[in-house]
Amino acid sequence: MTVVFSPLHPTFAAVVAPIDLRQAHDPAILESLQRGMAQYGVLVFRDQRFTNEEQMAFAQRFDGELHARTSTAVLVKNRHGNEALSDVSNVGADGQILPGEDRRRIGALANRLWHTDASFVTPPGRFSMLSARVVPEVAADTEFCDTRAAYAALDEATRATLAPLRVHHSIAYSREVLGFVFSAEEREKLKGAEQPLIRRIARDPRPALYLASHAQAVVGMPLAEGRLLLRDLMEHATQPQFVYRHQWQAHDFVIWDNRTTMHRATPFDDRKYRRELVRTTTLDIEQALP
Ligand code: OGA
Ligand code: MN
Repeated sequence: MTVVFSPLHPTFAAVVAPIDLRQAHDPAILESLQRGMAQYGVLVFRDQRFTNEEQMAFAQRFDGELHARTSTAVLVKNRHGNEALSDVSNVGADGQILPGEDRRRIGALANRLWHTDASFVTPPGRFSMLSARVVPEVAADTEFCDTRAAYAALDEATRATLAPLRVHHSIAYSREVLGFVFSAEEREKLKGAEQPLIRRIARDPRPALYLASHAQAVVGMPLAEGRLLLRDLMEHATQPQFVYRHQWQAHDFVIWDNRTTMHRATPFDDRKYRRELVRTTTLDIEQALP
């Protein structure tokens, strides 16, 4: 069986069919999906009826070890009882929609900032795989941007100045920008991690900007100067021509490469409509290439 990749945007993102990922075990099929990920950065699969266990099994056989620290999980207990299953929902442990002031709700709102998953820890997230279990009747889309196309649009002189730079990412920083307050003990747990600003993946030669709202300082640069540079680059990378907006259908499964894209949630009436997705993310550690 061969799968067909149909582009969703001029530079990245494709929908893949026909395939039931629960049944995808053939190494040749998984390899063609890996090549698709390297090329498109975002792959959309419709009608994937995963249980949590099936989703974890697929994520592991497709891309390796699962990440268990992709949020403020060190602070808040997870509804699914397994930190490798990120609860991307507006629902509490009792199954009810979270109240307006709930800390978990406010934390989830931070997904509306452009970001890459787990850039604030080492190793960061490589592929994130989001399974739509319950989708509201109103639009509650996710936007993705192509950070390789954004890099390609920079001039030569800018690229040369960015090449050696390293950036400190912290989830506490992106939350504090939104007015969150962390205790000293919490801040210590959320210290963050340093990442290169430009990344290249093994399977594709095109460099990407590696950015996120977690990016709080450029190493070796005065804080204000680094923040201005990061702000300019975030604005550049998220211009409309680099963005694909995904409109969710129930049972969609979307995989993105955090090294070549950023993403953000878009606002909807989350006090009224239930939205439940489950995310698995792989660890960005060394991988044997075929
Ligand atoms: C995520 C995320 C955005 C959304 O799952 O990592 O950022 O629209 N989701 O739910
Ligand atoms: Mn995310």
